[in-house]
Amino acid sequence: MPHKPDYSQWTKEELITRLEKLEKRKKYGLVWDEERTQEEFELQARDSLPVLEEVVENAITTDPEQPTHILIEGDNFHALSVLNYTHEALIDLIFIDPPYNTGKKDFRYNDRIVDEDDAFRHSKWLSFMDKRLRLAKTLLKETGAIFITIDDDEQAHLKLLCDEIFSPDNFIAQVCWQKKYSPQNDATYFSDMHDFILVYAKQAKKKKTDEYGFNLNLLPRTEQQDNRYSNPDNDPRGPWKSSGLDVKTYSAKYDYPITTRSGRTVKPPKGTCWRVPPNRLQELIADNRIWFGEDGSNVPSIKRFLSEVQQGVVPVTWWTRNEVGDNQEAKQEMKQILSDVEGFFDTPKPVRLLKRIISLATNNAEKQFVLDFFAGSGTTAQAVLELNEEDGGKRQCILVTNNENEIMTKVCYPRVRRVMEGYEFSGSEAELLFEEKLTLTKLRKANEMLAEYEKARQENQAAYDELKGEFEDSTLRLWGIKKYNGWREGLGGNLKYYRTAFVPAEPSDENKEKLTRQSVEMLCLREGTFDFVSETDVWKLYENRQRCTAILFDQLAIPDLKEELAKLDKPVSVYIFSLEDDSFAAEFSDMPGVTACGRPAEGYMMAESRGLKEDDLLKSQYFNLKQFGTRFQRNMANITSFWMEKKEANIAGLQIADLAAYPIAAKALRPDMEQKAFDVLAKKIDTAPASKGKGILGYGLKIFPQPTLEHYAIFGAP
Ligand SMILES: C[S@@+](CC[C@H](N)C(=O)[O-])C[C@H]1O[C@@H](n2cnc3c(N)ncnc32)[C@H](O)[C@@H]1O
Repeated sequence: MPHKPDYSQWTKEELITRLEKLEKRKKYGLVWDEERTQEEFELQARDSLPVLEEVVENAITTDPEQPTHILIEGDNFHALSVLNYTHEALIDLIFIDPPYNTGKKDFRYNDRIVDEDDAFRHSKWLSFMDKRLRLAKTLLKETGAIFITIDDDEQAHLKLLCDEIFSPDNFIAQVCWQKKYSPQNDATYFSDMHDFILVYAKQAKKKKTDEYGFNLNLLPRTEQQDNRYSNPDNDPRGPWKSSGLDVKTYSAKYDYPITTRSGRTVKPPKGTCWRVPPNRLQELIADNRIWFGEDGSNVPSIKRFLSEVQQGVVPVTWWTRNEVGDNQEAKQEMKQILSDVEGFFDTPKPVRLLKRIISLATNNAEKQFVLDFFAGSGTTAQAVLELNEEDGGKRQCILVTNNENEIMTKVCYPRVRRVMEGYEFSGSEAELLFEEKLTLTKLRKANEMLAEYEKARQENQAAYDELKGEFEDSTLRLWGIKKYNGWREGLGGNLKYYRTAFVPAEPSDENKEKLTRQSVEMLCLREGTFDFVSETDVWKLYENRQRCTAILFDQLAIPDLKEELAKLDKPVSVYIFSLEDDSFAAEFSDMPGVTACGRPAEGYMMAESRGLKEDDLLKSQYFNLKQFGTRFQRNMANITSFWMEKKEANIAGLQIADLAAYPIAAKALRPDMEQKAFDVLAKKIDTAPASKGKGILGYGLKIFPQPTLEHYAIFGAP
């Protein structure tokens, strides 16, 4: 334990420095013991890099027209590091349902269960979540969002942590989900009936009308909501619903008599007035927007047309089990699909809950990615497949889960496989056909409501095996029951299955070659090209319907590869293993459809650095500056801007520290400036390799005309 400093012995300068440090310390927010809650792999991470290895025999192909979904078995920290290389800023929605840290064996840390009495229980959970959420954030598109389920055990901590990572400005909502129906009568105090769902955007809109930022879709209008509209006067604008013309905020100007069509005079009820002035009322009457009842003598009301109301419903933050299912329903769903699996997982989420979240945050356009990195039983995959089937979407899901209690191999993978390919199923499934909550007004019109209920009964008679009425919580419902006995058709879809693996991280030439060979799967994942085309000893070629990816292990074979690529009728991305600082762009300049994407090992080692913290990097030997060659130099412009802000840092440590700062620096530079700096530096390096140091200095000075000591340290002395 560090002992308490004896300030009485300190010099004035030492005390000032100390005071300055204390001034800078965070005064508000979340603090936990990070030192004592390191994960074991944080040390390993310095010596090895995570990669993905495909488990080829687990791949599923049903229809090449449908999207390819991804399952990754392994620790999500490693999977997220890899995804930072393959899917940076590509994900539309991240949904996670992490261990809630209830103290009841649900959370494992460093391979040991964290129980209620662990003094570092919350610190461990926060360390665990902090690292993963930071990696997850960089995966989100600027228009993306993250939804996280949690309960009372960690909700308060998680909210503060997310404020810190995503910023309070990007907090969207905290939804309350009714997870249970029956109260627990043996509860010591309250029987808790809900979970929370925290929602943060990568970039929230400040105003509803802002063009840029996360967009939350409306919920579809239900048939019952639409059924409330009718057209008794055959208005050509279609069905409408009447709403009162009187308001309670009184204004004498709006308090005037109205003569109905039948000639009766009506005044607003006492203490109220009309919502429009007399001249506006005349306009509305002329436009047939005021309803005086069938015989023209009722108190007037305004007609609200279905065609003019918002084509959807604004979601509220209270989600009932009737709308999105509960824990019981979730278990039932899993049992239906995995009836032959013993002792399966007992904390799945209901598919309807996931479908609600996915439909709020994504749409059926091309290239929509949904990521769940605590996938458990794979509910998210089932929800994506069902939604794609319903709205013709092409959403692709990426699911990551470890194999704790064989959750991946015995539950998640078989479940996804069966949902795609079909399965034996005996049992019943209920669908909500009618729902109406009773209010005093509705009770007055009970006959109308019962007629609608009866109509729904008649209309659905043939489509279901059984119709079941229910009256619960003052709500009348009608359920359609379908009974299955036999085969349930699959929804289709394709799947690739990967496991995380490791390669040595020391950037020696041998390791770089090893990493390039190991990164083939990751490059295919990055490019979305999963279909094998051809291979030789020195290259591999993959494709999808739109494009190809080539990975070349020997630069001397570029001419042979070019011959092969010339036969293709699609654009190609080429990744080349080389120990030289060369992008190889010039070699392919005569082939417009071919893009040289640089050296995969270099790129990956660089991208991986985003997963580690600055402190780790400072200590870490493997981030040896020189090894990054051209790639690092190209990032100098960004790094320099970070240096400028960080004047107090000690020069000796900066070269390494700034590597960690790269993502921050990249964000700090204006995009046009960043591009300019990159272009200038890249050009110089490419055209004058022999005089790199001085050349870079020259161009560096153009970008930063008033160089500081730090600039010279980066660019070299003139
Ligand atoms: C609460 S469950 C998620 C349940 C899921 N939403 C469902 O509907 O089935 C959390 C899952 O995350 C997995 N998990 C926990 N820590 C993990 C880690 N570090 N990496 C990957 N998976 C992890 C656990 O094995 C567990 O299956």
